[in-house]
Amino acid sequence: MTTSSTDTPQPAGPPPGPDALRERALAALLAARERTALLTDCVEGPDLTGQHSPLMSPLVWDLAHIGNQEELWLVRAVGGRPAFRPEIDSLYDAFEHPRAERPSLPLLAPEEARRYAAEVRGRALDVLSSAPVEGERLTVSGFAFGMVAQHEQQHDETMLITHQLRRGPAVLDAPAPPRPDPAAPLPGPEVLVPGGPFTMGTSAEPWALDNERPAHRREVAAFHLDTAPVTCGAYLRFIADGGYGQERWWHPAGWRMVREHGLTAPLFWRREGTTWLRRRFGSVEPVPEDEPVVHVSWYEADAYARWAGRRLPTEAEWEKAARHDPATGRARRYPWGDADPGPAHANLGQRHLRPAPAGAYPAGRSPLGVGQLIGDVWEWTAGDFLPYPGFSAFPYREYSQVFFGDAHKVLRGGSFGVDAVACRGTFRNWDLPVRRQIFAGFRTARDAAVGEGAA
Ligand code: AVJ
Ligand code: FE
Repeated sequence: MTTSSTDTPQPAGPPPGPDALRERALAALLAARERTALLTDCVEGPDLTGQHSPLMSPLVWDLAHIGNQEELWLVRAVGGRPAFRPEIDSLYDAFEHPRAERPSLPLLAPEEARRYAAEVRGRALDVLSSAPVEGERLTVSGFAFGMVAQHEQQHDETMLITHQLRRGPAVLDAPAPPRPDPAAPLPGPEVLVPGGPFTMGTSAEPWALDNERPAHRREVAAFHLDTAPVTCGAYLRFIADGGYGQERWWHPAGWRMVREHGLTAPLFWRREGTTWLRRRFGSVEPVPEDEPVVHVSWYEADAYARWAGRRLPTEAEWEKAARHDPATGRARRYPWGDADPGPAHANLGQRHLRPAPAGAYPAGRSPLGVGQLIGDVWEWTAGDFLPYPGFSAFPYREYSQVFFGDAHKVLRGGSFGVDAVACRGTFRNWDLPVRRQIFAGFRTARDAAVGEGAA
């Protein structure tokens, strides 16, 4: 697989030296731990040790698992130091114990789990102060530190999902996200993305995970793409039109799911008289019509798209819309360019505990004017989670490789619940097509007519 010359340029300026790389790694680790503390210090007792849904681990499991992964990769693998608490490895190995069984394990109690994570962190920072940030794949550009920071932030999003599933009064709070700027309207409901090749994936982004690699050329035919994620208001029209009652819109397995569980709306929604309400982090509120819909399965996204006479974008279409710069022919890191995400670009990092209304974040739009590709809601794409040509599992098969195949669908772009360190134009998330507890929504696409947007 050749690395195209158009592969992921890095931010302007000289490449960071070892001190700058260590500083970046340190900042990412500290930010992740601050988030973990916010999510786990606001609850106690059974809220930490109990299970809020069979789909989720007890929060105290995530907490010690975060520490255990850090011990495995930073203290032992990079630092070459002896195992600190090898006897707990198997308790916190996600493959040995499925989520449903985790509450019955002899887990570390909350105070012990906190102390363990903090002690591992002390050792990891000691490793960081003298670790090589070049050489092998594990250490080059501080990869292992970036991977561990991403891992913690991914679990921070998982823990936020657990908070959403938790019953009881609200314990989390955040300001509302920005509203659309009337002076910066979207170019229209959809844009035409011209056909032609683009560079998908990356070989140059230092902290990109194995499934994002390597960069490779992809041919993508011209297509039309929504400029914003599908809103609750649009989704309500699908509901009102009897969408959940008509087999013709549904994938056969999706229709079975609808019938078996009696689905009539996204997860956390309920109807009271003529109004739709939703539960969000312990509060009940009217469904906001202008916000991207969230907590829908792939099957619901797929059915909505069919009802609308459209389809889900393929993963390659999504990434081309998010990264391809028609002016230069290069694939960039984000829709807005190569700069790291700031608060004006995207709704990320649990700064706001809900998606922003469609049309917000004009500074985060792509050159063609597609908005909110990054942040707000994870977007279901049409496709299965498959390796790119030239993929090699790194540093462990259980991150990506064991999930490749037709069981999982790919989600792109990140949600309000994930940090920028674990979200970029190339980042790939995946889940089962029935899952609804994740912060997932979607946008739709359609083929271009023959000759329209030809390369
Ligand atoms: C990439 C979000 C699907 O949470 O299962 C965390 C990330 N991998 N620990 C997951 C992950 C190992 C993973 N997802
Ligand atoms: Fe994990």
